[in-house]
Amino acid sequence: MSSLLLINAKVNAQQITVQNNSNQYLEKRIDSIIQQLTLEEKVAMCHAQSKFSSPGVPRLGIPEIWMSDGPHGVRGEINWDDWGYAGWTNDSITAFPALTCLAATFNPKLSKKYGINVGEEARYRKKDVLLGPGVNIYRTPLNGRNFEYMGEDPYLASKMVVPYIKGVQTNGVAACVKHYVLNNQELWRDHINVEVSDRALHEIYLPAFKAAVQEGKVWSLMSAYNQYQGQYCSHNEKLNKILKEDWKFDGALITDWGATHNTKEAALYGLDIEMGTGTDGLTMSTKNAYDYYYLANPFLELLKKGDIDESFLNDKVRRILRLMHRTSMNKNRGFGKINNQEHLDVAREIATEGIVLLKNENSFFPIKDNKNITIAVIGENATRPMTIGGGSSELKAKHEISPLDGLKARYKNATIIHAMGYESGPSVYAKVLPAKLDAEKLKNEALEVASKADIVLFFGGLNKSHLQDCEGGDRQSYGLPFAQDDLINDIIKVNTNTSVILVSGNAVEMPWHNKTKAIIQTWYLGSQAGLAIADIISGDVNPSGKLPFSFPKKLQDNAAHSFGKISYPGDSINQIYKEGILVGYRWHDTKKIKPLFAFGEGLSYTTFNISEIKVNKKIFSKNEEIKITCKVTNTGTYDGSEVVQVYIGKPKSKVKRALKELKGFQKVFINKGEAKDLEITINTNDLAFYDESISNWNLENGSYEIFVGNASNNIISNLKIKIL
Ligand code: BGC
Repeated sequence: MSSLLLINAKVNAQQITVQNNSNQYLEKRIDSIIQQLTLEEKVAMCHAQSKFSSPGVPRLGIPEIWMSDGPHGVRGEINWDDWGYAGWTNDSITAFPALTCLAATFNPKLSKKYGINVGEEARYRKKDVLLGPGVNIYRTPLNGRNFEYMGEDPYLASKMVVPYIKGVQTNGVAACVKHYVLNNQELWRDHINVEVSDRALHEIYLPAFKAAVQEGKVWSLMSAYNQYQGQYCSHNEKLNKILKEDWKFDGALITDWGATHNTKEAALYGLDIEMGTGTDGLTMSTKNAYDYYYLANPFLELLKKGDIDESFLNDKVRRILRLMHRTSMNKNRGFGKINNQEHLDVAREIATEGIVLLKNENSFFPIKDNKNITIAVIGENATRPMTIGGGSSELKAKHEISPLDGLKARYKNATIIHAMGYESGPSVYAKVLPAKLDAEKLKNEALEVASKADIVLFFGGLNKSHLQDCEGGDRQSYGLPFAQDDLINDIIKVNTNTSVILVSGNAVEMPWHNKTKAIIQTWYLGSQAGLAIADIISGDVNPSGKLPFSFPKKLQDNAAHSFGKISYPGDSINQIYKEGILVGYRWHDTKKIKPLFAFGEGLSYTTFNISEIKVNKKIFSKNEEIKITCKVTNTGTYDGSEVVQVYIGKPKSKVKRALKELKGFQKVFINKGEAKDLEITINTNDLAFYDESISNWNLENGSYEIFVGNASNNIISNLKIKIL
């Protein structure tokens, strides 16, 4: 061994010893605290004392735990005992882009920045747990909450969630990864029983949670509302075993708000902190409604009777104390920061990198600022605040710059004219409120504005209202709401130089896509939305976002929907994930159903050439690194970034496989006319499938195909290797 390697090995060994010593010290401290606690004090720690906090032990100076939503910023203060906003004046924050946007950056470094920055805001607001990020897999474009998640691919979600967690937790604030697991729709989320194959569970729905636990070392996790195998996810025997025995999660499992249903199961199957159970202390006029939680008095009684062994309680308290040591009892954590320029800059950087250019006929974009042009900005989403609504991720943003304002700030010479075009009602939780303005009049105004302009930018899509991109309900159709399709078609009739800028967290049907000159997918971008959009439209920043989920041409082309109602949304009691592992592009590819826009797709103002694609050898064994190298050349006229994507398939397998699965990617910035060499490594073990016959991962021998490209539907080269 060289001397340098020896020194490194010693340093690593020392670090592990220090880590082990400090772990042992911590566990001993926790032992001694547990010994001092009464049964009542320990039980009290296992459930809420208010909407967003759980109690400490005042007698011993053990602090409370304060939590807040997540995941796109720190939510406004909520009342102690009900869902109303507390009306504080010091709780406005920076709104970061939605997690779909973060996923679309394909840039784990930005995810780390996101985590650090949002974590600083949580710390400043004195929160110990930030309720996010969410990594439920995008299974249907109707799921009202897809915007809070990281897309349809388990590998992408895993790579993006880990740095977010690490970033948040550097602040002494716990991330709380949600919703464990299979909460892939909002309709009937509070009870639907999901039936899914073990293989799909392990290959599609669990990997991001597993990465969060094992690589991200996340300190807390939130259970899902729904049931799996007839048992609620908050106290599910099988899911608990996977989490705490197989993955060795040492943090606390917190329920979703109101997701606990049974004391005994909660006691035995790993629920550590119960939150949000439907007992409202004020309206019930009960002295302390929280005492009636499943893990409160009913739990205490079972413990006292000896029906449940105290070791179950001690395990929960140990996990809660660990969480406290990492957060509220950590004297070394910083103080956090809020609403500073750096946070705004990071929000803008992520927003800009996540925007996806989907179509750009004859270089419609970028649009140069020029006093001879008139730009019509049409559509409600050009001015609608998108941090409001959406459910628990709603934010009280200190600033939110709308697309219209962002464009006005950027375009000083061009003439910008504006019309609302259509109106939807206000975003209110669980209610659809009607629009008030005259739809016909709005349309006519829009057509008049469009006819006067050289260029039309139509800002449409969805919004954060109930039955749109919002928690607590699913979209009711795949098409655009509020008669936007008709409006777009009519605008194109008066001005063919029209582009559509979609603001949404979900795919939508685009019957007009052939007739528009350009299409941009912009997500919910937070405080700096308008500036980021103007960065892209003006060409100040070259777009580099890639779709984190497929856009099917029609709803029936989506896997979950192609199996009818029992697959989505279910029969209101049960649902069966009949597509198994073939979610998203895995389905489109394998079944040869072309999507309108594919997973991983996204254009740039420049062009890239990926060449010299090679693999380091042809034959590999188990647990070996496959090294894929290539050269990426920026052959166009703008500096810009490209995402090289590596997918792997197993043509002959003992089980049905997807044609290909994402196993590696790298984003690289290249100046125009320059080239860079890339290397992407993939461990052969990551090519295993989950073998139901042995309830474990199984790496098959034989031939594999490596597909390298810049989108799931644009593969430039495929190479063959063997694992023996
Ligand atoms: C949501 C969670 C959220 C919690 C607290 C629930 O309705 O599903 O994601 O963290 O409320 O607001």
